[in-house]
Amino acid sequence: MPHIDQLRQPHPFDLLHGTDTGGRYSAADLDSVSLSSLYATGYLGIPPSTLRSALAALPVNHEDFSFVDIGCGKGRALFVAAEFPFRRLFGVEIASKLCEVAWANAARNPAWEKRVSIANQDAKSFVFPDGPLVLFFYYPFYSRVLRRVLANVGRELRQSPRPFYLLHGHLYVNASDSSAEHVDIRTYRKVMQSFPYFREVSDAVYPLSAADAAAEPSGITMNRFLLYSAGVTA
Ligand SMILES: C[S@@+](CC[C@H](N)C(=O)[O-])C[C@H]1O[C@@H](n2cnc3c(N)ncnc32)[C@H](O)[C@@H]1O
Repeated sequence: MPHIDQLRQPHPFDLLHGTDTGGRYSAADLDSVSLSSLYATGYLGIPPSTLRSALAALPVNHEDFSFVDIGCGKGRALFVAAEFPFRRLFGVEIASKLCEVAWANAARNPAWEKRVSIANQDAKSFVFPDGPLVLFFYYPFYSRVLRRVLANVGRELRQSPRPFYLLHGHLYVNASDSSAEHVDIRTYRKVMQSFPYFREVSDAVYPLSAADAAAEPSGITMNRFLLYSAGVTA
């Protein structure tokens, strides 16, 4: 599988856990089970330090919720989320090769194997698990697919209302408003606003730890997280 930055040292998360969650892959270089990959952004694992901060700040009892990573790639976000007492953890990933790596990673830790389920499929056809949910997106795809997935979420919540949060992670640079990252965030926010059942709860920026920053293929030093809740009634 072509890899944009093959010469980089393993990520500290991987050195600690014996996993492979590193690297950066363009969408064009990934295999796929669906044409939705035309709207995919590529693979990049979330920096563990920023995701930990965002998950610690969630206004939930983690043990009441399951965590779903939409576009889980090699599984890094799932394994970081497994540090919290979420009930179960689910990942969905369109690229078969990334999914195989994620399965192999999960198999390295019996606690992960027991709690984590990963499906190789298009997020558009993913069937959401029962019970209260935290859905996580680390900028997996462009708005065309995002809209379809959000419409599915709305249908699911109307059929089976329950506590629900959606957490969007974004690359973030402290740059001009016209930088690519700012435009991505504005676009996501606009799409979210077109679904009346989502309400923005918080908007937070967290810095990468020094170790994560040194290992970060994109060069970012911060992530921005937008948190939404859904107030859908039957
Ligand atoms: C930026 S990576 C994030 C990886 C992981 N969530 C993390 O934070 O460590 C986005 C992932 O979404 C996947 N993806 C893109 N479109 C998808 C779709 N329609 N269904 C499922 N996965 C998709 C990509 O293949 C890629 O692995």
